[in-house]
Amino acid sequence: MVNTHRKLILNIYCSAIILPQICTCSQFTSSSNDQYNENPGVFPVATNGEPFPWRELRLPTKVIPLHYDLFVHPNLTSLDFVASEKIEVLVRDTTQFIILHSHGLEIMNATLQSEEDLRYKKSGEKLTVLSYPAHQQIALLVPEKLMADLRYSVAIDFQAKLADGFEGFYKSTYRTLGGETRTIAVTDFEPTHARMAFPCFDEPLFKANFSIKIRRESRHIALSNMPKVKTIEREGGLLEDHFETTVKMSTYLVAYIVCDFASVSGTASSGVKVSIYASPDKWSQTHYALEASLKLLDFYENYFNIHYPLPKLDLVAIPDFESGAMENWGLVTYRETSLLFDPKTSSTSDKLWVTKVIAHELAHQWFGNLVTMEWWNDIWLNEGFATYMELISVNVTYPELQFDNIFLNNCFDVIKSDSLNSSRPVSKQAETPTQIQEMFDAISYKKGACLLNMLKDFLSEEKFKKGIIHYLKKFSYRNAKNDDLWSSLSNSCLESDFTSGGFCYSDSKTTSNTLTFLEENVEVKDIMTTWTRQKGIPLVVVEQEGRLLKLRQERFLNGVFRDDPEWGALQERYLWHIPVTYSTSSSNAIHRHLLTSKTDTLYLPEKTSWVKLNVDSNGYYIVHYEAHGWDQLIAVLNQNHTLLRPKDRIGLIHDAFQLVSAGRLTLDKALDLTHYLQHETSIPALLQGLDYLESFYHTMDRRNISDITENLKYFKPVIDMQSWSDEGSVWDRRLRSSLLKLACYLNYAPCIRKATELFSQWMESSGKLNIPTDVLKIVYSVGAQTTEGWNYLLEQYGLSLSGAEKNKILYALSTSKHQEKLIKLIDLGMEGKVIKTQDLASLLYAIARNPKGQQLAWNFVKENWTHLLERFELSSFPMRIIISGTTFHFSSKDELQEVKLFFESLQTQGSYLEVFQIVLETISKNIKWLEKNLPSLRNWLLISI
Ligand code: BES
Ligand code: ZN
Repeated sequence: MVNTHRKLILNIYCSAIILPQICTCSQFTSSSNDQYNENPGVFPVATNGEPFPWRELRLPTKVIPLHYDLFVHPNLTSLDFVASEKIEVLVRDTTQFIILHSHGLEIMNATLQSEEDLRYKKSGEKLTVLSYPAHQQIALLVPEKLMADLRYSVAIDFQAKLADGFEGFYKSTYRTLGGETRTIAVTDFEPTHARMAFPCFDEPLFKANFSIKIRRESRHIALSNMPKVKTIEREGGLLEDHFETTVKMSTYLVAYIVCDFASVSGTASSGVKVSIYASPDKWSQTHYALEASLKLLDFYENYFNIHYPLPKLDLVAIPDFESGAMENWGLVTYRETSLLFDPKTSSTSDKLWVTKVIAHELAHQWFGNLVTMEWWNDIWLNEGFATYMELISVNVTYPELQFDNIFLNNCFDVIKSDSLNSSRPVSKQAETPTQIQEMFDAISYKKGACLLNMLKDFLSEEKFKKGIIHYLKKFSYRNAKNDDLWSSLSNSCLESDFTSGGFCYSDSKTTSNTLTFLEENVEVKDIMTTWTRQKGIPLVVVEQEGRLLKLRQERFLNGVFRDDPEWGALQERYLWHIPVTYSTSSSNAIHRHLLTSKTDTLYLPEKTSWVKLNVDSNGYYIVHYEAHGWDQLIAVLNQNHTLLRPKDRIGLIHDAFQLVSAGRLTLDKALDLTHYLQHETSIPALLQGLDYLESFYHTMDRRNISDITENLKYFKPVIDMQSWSDEGSVWDRRLRSSLLKLACYLNYAPCIRKATELFSQWMESSGKLNIPTDVLKIVYSVGAQTTEGWNYLLEQYGLSLSGAEKNKILYALSTSKHQEKLIKLIDLGMEGKVIKTQDLASLLYAIARNPKGQQLAWNFVKENWTHLLERFELSSFPMRIIISGTTFHFSSKDELQEVKLFFESLQTQGSYLEVFQIVLETISKNIKWLEKNLPSLRNWLLISI
């Protein structure tokens, strides 16, 4: 209901929808529609019935904030807070009102003082406050016009309940070892939730300084972005912490926490104090995070050649957290499983995840916090860069993790959705809070990161690094847009850079905004806009004819075949500037060519028996080899696969199966290609093949085709070689987990036997026995198949203090074949006590992966939609995971129809999400794939190798 209302208002009042240029504010150009006094009738109506003087979703830019003095006093017993703030504003153009964001706050009082009032200590003038909840805005009406170029101070007293969900200033609880439940209060603001905690100019462009004061009981501590300057005693035994003033920053990065946590600390090479906080009983799990964050902070300060500008950096594990982590400047918050590492129960994959998340959030301290996107349409500048920097930093700080192989999966993951017509361009307009939240998706994170990686490969690591440092230095404490990045990367200097004394790296060979590539001038912007403004991914079709290499580019479409009627229209007007790379049988060197037209022909210097495009899979494109191309590559793989680089082998497996989905390659041919895997020596390549095999078994299982079980294909010898231990390198250990998981899933007798034995020993030891962490999840999953084992696991779930262990147990519980047990899990998840609400999405996701739970999970979502919306915002991460996770695997026309009807019914209630269309297209694609390939897949699985 609320949403329909909002949509209507938008269409009538917000010209952003109709005339985007009116709502797009560049770095504070004044908007002139202050027509309130002339014609109040055309304005929306405030809650008190009076006209609300502003009709746009985005704030006017006549008044801008400079400094916030914020005082907050949360009461962790009555679960509410009282607060006050003084915002120093600069008036840029005469106006009669100030518009601020405020959502769900009760405003008690608002006053205004001019500079003169302040000087003569004159008390403030009371302001009229109007509220327009549909836009989450309030208007402060001033009796006399505010004058341009003057500063004023706005004081506001307000209060609210601590929020129930995961946004704004919310409460979170945890149980101590002694069984006591304790409450803490914590903030989470990105993208548009600062307005739930204090009235503010809640847009990324309105950067300001913040001085924060928190009142608390003496049993608690308070943390905020900056270090504490002093603590003052207040009446009733309360204490008030005053924090140093922040650097200039956006509202979404403000943070404060009141809790009773314990910490470990260390000092980075630059002197920055780094601390890890967790609830007292989890203190022992904080040490790995401290080691990793110190290493990573040192790395980033060196790499960017820019100091982390705050004196301290806290990383805090929050018991109830919606996403994985949040990069608040100086006070980064994490889900417990993204920060804590328990040597007894955290696996090597858990360690990888913790390292990745810390690397990501610390990268944001530069990309995002120091330099922020102007508006949410370019959120990829934050998230794509943070994801890209994970690769750069972890490869150096933890080389043994071989993070480049993990990074590749980002690209493969996003290709799945980006090759559907329902995908979107990297940069896309987003106005409403729902649209803004939807921008936090695989396209911003993963495609963004893969494009940056491709550009780095094209420009050379050195030039790319120089360019991004230039960008960071030039836009420090300011906002940037795509074009700012492109011109920084062009390695060029503008005259203004010299005159303003800005940082500039000049390359004498280049002219403004151009750089040379193979002796030709190319513009980074020209290349990159073909990747950020067009949705989708290109397919490079290559045909070798003697010494000629013929190239052609198309739009790659998953599930749409070339002879489908819509294929032609879906290709129209798509053209990318593709940095093509290749190596050949006669030269392992990397050859380069920028493909800017539909077709092109290259001359190979020598005769070669094969050619492989997209060296090391660094490019964001798929390659199809026409004529004998694929056969030649399959022959090389079988004769001596080491002639191709490991990432090229991974890329070939990936592209071959993608091409099957696009109807360009037969499934038999792709399966042929995997035949060489029995000799594969690279673990990441083996895992790539194993992933497909696993998904094929799941496909059969979902269809109740059971005669193919226990055929382990090429993997049987290597499965038989596995020990049930934590020995070996990181990738040996990852391989062991994946192989044994598949073996036990397929009921391979030796696997079940060993897992059952370990599970019984564990139960007999009352959960005290240490099982090797990499096989823990497998042992629990086998144990969960008996009622006794399942019940015991559920009991242990309630007692465990390790998030890593709890995740493994919950997954194991969700693999039960008994529906009543799965229903019990969902009930517990909805209740939110034993199974926390934060884990409901991954629980439903896991149950939907279980063939016995797939229908159950989906029915639950349909029947409990409104209850789910009481827990999560429509466009939040969990909601989108729940929607896609419980529907993605469907593959029949009836299921498609059912999902479609359900989405339509939501739409008529005013709820619409981009993910609906992605899901529907994915199901249609699944249907088509199975119609075409199920018989040959089944035959192939039946053959024993
Ligand atoms: N800035 C995001 C947190 C966020 C997510 C804010 C969605 C608003 C909406 C944070 O940096 C982030 O990206 N977190 C990831 C973890 C990361 C390692 C991919 C997450 O929460 O999943
Ligand atoms: Zn991020």
